[in-house]
Amino acid sequence: MADEGDWQRSLLRELSEGGTSGMHLDPPERSAPEGQRSDPETVLPRRQAPQHTQPVIRGPRAPQVPVPAPESVPTVDPRLAIALGRPQHGDSMAARTGRSLRKLTTSAAQEVVEGTRLAQEIQQPVTTGRVIAVTSIRGGAGKSTVSALLARTFNHYRHDPVLALEADAALGTLPVRLGAESVRWSCTDLAQILNPSMQLTDVSGYLVPVKDGGWLLPASQGRVGAPLDVPAYRTVTLALRRYFGVTVVDCETLPGEVARTAMDTAHARVIVATMTAEGVNGTRVVLDWLAGLPHAALATTVVVLTATSPDATLDPKAAAAHLREAGAPVLLLPYDRHLAQGGPIHADKLAQATREAAMRLAAEVMQRAVKAR
Ligand SMILES: Nc1ncnc2c1ncn2[C@@H]1O[C@H](COP(=O)(O)OP(=O)(O)OP(=O)(O)O)[C@@H](O)[C@H]1O
Ligand SMILES: [Mg+2]
Repeated sequence: MADEGDWQRSLLRELSEGGTSGMHLDPPERSAPEGQRSDPETVLPRRQAPQHTQPVIRGPRAPQVPVPAPESVPTVDPRLAIALGRPQHGDSMAARTGRSLRKLTTSAAQEVVEGTRLAQEIQQPVTTGRVIAVTSIRGGAGKSTVSALLARTFNHYRHDPVLALEADAALGTLPVRLGAESVRWSCTDLAQILNPSMQLTDVSGYLVPVKDGGWLLPASQGRVGAPLDVPAYRTVTLALRRYFGVTVVDCETLPGEVARTAMDTAHARVIVATMTAEGVNGTRVVLDWLAGLPHAALATTVVVLTATSPDATLDPKAAAAHLREAGAPVLLLPYDRHLAQGGPIHADKLAQATREAAMRLAAEVMQRAVKAR
């Protein structure tokens, strides 16, 4: 326990020395430092100074290999961004009114007790940074949505820094879901830049600060380019575990090589399945594969069954029972109008059932992640 306290205390101390406090760090300057702008082709990237403070220089930080400073690229074409429309609430007006009335009854007290229990599970201290990999066997199952909800929930309840890492170079949507307006440094860039002498304040200069709190490292700049490879993924996750209490990894679909590595090396795993016969069937095959891995991977796996369409007809109970047979817990993420809309996830627009599902999932996953070696 003493080690746990020291690890988290020193991180928080480092954050406050850099002129920041807790998880709500001042966003670093997003534009490239002057030196980089004047010679954009090949420069040694260095820490970008936080906006409101003087940079704290603690020693040599330059990477060994010169890395070209990438341009900052918008996550959504500005012409499309203005056409996004107003975010709608996940719950209808009638449902929201009904809930306000129910708050006056005794069942509200039970909800508070349950909420407190889940919050305590999510807040469990960790000895070293925990990595949670989110993947699926089918594209479009809801991986990025679940990753964004998880990262947001961890960030809301935990006191240590939380990172959302995108490990899906196929033009993934995690930056958009987390409300990032532009991206710059990618996971592949950081694999060449990170070195053991860097402090969190140095590393955060290469990350995107998420509006709700926490940090994002995208897999790409939203262009078709070189895919993330396994060595880069391993380098980045291993190095960043030092700085972040929890890293949520939004993976490509299985059986991609990076997704398999992420599943194999994570402390806990989330497999997302759509509420369709194909989604459930394919996910059962993945669970049986996990059961065959040497280090009890199934014991640290949670399945999320998502309803990405309001027209799903598969019986959720039957689907969940089929998946539970494989030996992993199954949680339901119900259909949510706000999530279906696409674009940035606004916490205040999520349906109540979505918030509760995200909280239960974060608690289930954290329970497993803390126990893993
Ligand atoms: N609970 C939900 N309710 C309604 N729509 C949802 C829900 N979860 C996900 N969706 C919708 O399903 C679609 C796919 O979600 P998402 O992009 O998260 O999947 P993905 O698995 O990351 O996809 P990809 O394989 O392309 O990376 C999105 O349009 C999203 O808005
Ligand atoms: Mg995705």
